[in-house]
Amino acid sequence: MFLQRSSRAVRSQWCRPQGLSRVLAHGSQGAFSVSRHGFHTSRALQVVKPVLLADIGEGIVECEIIQWFVEPEARVEEFSPLCEVQSDKASVEITSRFAGVVKKLHYDAGDMAKVGKPFVDIDIQGDAKKEDLEALTAPEPSQGQGGSGEALNKESLSKPPEGKTTETVKAEEKAPVGQQSDKPKKSTGRFASLATPAVRHLSKEFDVDITEIEGTGKDGRVLKEDIHRYVESRKSSAAASTPTQPPVDTATQTETPVQLTNIQAQMFKAMTRSLTIPHFLYTDEIDFSQMHSLRTRLNKVLKSSPQDDISKLSYMPFIIKAVSLALYQYPILNARVEIDANTQKPSLVHRSQHNIGIAMDTPSGLLVPVIKNVASRNILSIASELTRLQTAATAGKLSPQDLSGGTITVSNIGNIGGTYLSPVIVEKEVAILGVGRIRTVPAFDEEDRVVKKQACNFSWSADHRVVDGATMARAAEVVKQIVEEPDVMVMHMR
Ligand code: COA
Repeated sequence: MFLQRSSRAVRSQWCRPQGLSRVLAHGSQGAFSVSRHGFHTSRALQVVKPVLLADIGEGIVECEIIQWFVEPEARVEEFSPLCEVQSDKASVEITSRFAGVVKKLHYDAGDMAKVGKPFVDIDIQGDAKKEDLEALTAPEPSQGQGGSGEALNKESLSKPPEGKTTETVKAEEKAPVGQQSDKPKKSTGRFASLATPAVRHLSKEFDVDITEIEGTGKDGRVLKEDIHRYVESRKSSAAASTPTQPPVDTATQTETPVQLTNIQAQMFKAMTRSLTIPHFLYTDEIDFSQMHSLRTRLNKVLKSSPQDDISKLSYMPFIIKAVSLALYQYPILNARVEIDANTQKPSLVHRSQHNIGIAMDTPSGLLVPVIKNVASRNILSIASELTRLQTAATAGKLSPQDLSGGTITVSNIGNIGGTYLSPVIVEKEVAILGVGRIRTVPAFDEEDRVVKKQACNFSWSADHRVVDGATMARAAEVVKQIVEEPDVMVMHMR
């Protein structure tokens, strides 16, 4: 399949470069001095700070720069978005820890950026107080130590020409002599304009490249209206150009290479890795009739008196709980395979919590957020967490925490269609359950009369290196019994 952990979670970037150089501007006198250790008398300052790409978790050492939201000389405020990066697990928006002016982008979009290395230089300007500056700077490495700190130090030192203050240099760089203007510089082209996450989400919904849009907001910020205007103009230019388009030539075969989208590229990598696992597929039909009537009864109750903001239950909380109950008897399905890096010797790592990943179809693609510690939750609590994750996923607001730590996955494709699945196991897991469409089928009752039955197929994939067929079948049988007789769950509730 499919299973790609990804998100557009927003993280604040706070990195302390080792050995930060400081250039102090002496206000109107226009003199400069460089201080390595102290902040002396001046209050106005310029500090070009190489910002390090923060650790985004789960041992990720590099990630792809998907897009920049800034360009050199763009003014950024604290928490302004800088760029979006994509790791194997998540797409993450990096925001600035500092207000200042962007001086250098260390990577182009599409490049792989190293975690812990500088990815952007920001000139932190203004009336910073001594305490603030000290809070922003890390202790400098001692001379002769070498290492990245020194390299950064050299790279980041930016000293305006003598006699000019930081502000005058900035103004001159912005506009040619005689054409200085207070108007914000348009930030279009290769670098995306400044835009809020909501605006970028809207741009994704309309499949619009935000870098193509001229922002009319502050500092060239792209606004929602800009996106709507762009979409309208795109529609009309498409309509206008249609009659002049040449007809598609079907007489000869034409092959057009198309780049993978970021999500596809990540799926490509993750699924290629997952397919190194020998998959064992096991599928069975489950009678959902009792589950159907239990859910109908509970939903009547919830409709009249919602609990924990839940006024309706889907089938998922019951299925998720049934999987967790089966894991008590078959903990191997909650384990992961570990291969010793030195000896290559495989082992199993058992995990105490049942953290169940849920494959979700969202506007930005397939995401797999995780419901943590299902064993300690009741049906309402699972439903509530599922709703929270669904809402966050739809809004592009899942955090890396929401997307990490899964121990087994459930993928319910049945609300879209399909009876059988061949689900692909997620890395660091050994099993996944695929749920097909619940459908009404004819069946015989105990008196051999034809009756209506709700049937659904459960398709399991397990890592055949560590899970044998009989174990998978027995565990699947436990889940089947619980789902077919859901009242039994009451006995196991904690
Ligand atoms: N068969 C038939 N109907 C189903 C169903 C199934 N297997 N699963 C859900 N439905 C129904 C629900 O009952 C609900 O209908 P109702 O309100 O009339 O009862 C409707 O479909 C919508 O349910 P949904 O809002 O999707 O909630 P959910 O809790 O059942 O599912 C998700 C939540 C996140 C799993 C689901 O929305 C989703 O994204 N599924 C796709 C996952 C995916 O893409 N997997 C494939 C990976 S390759």
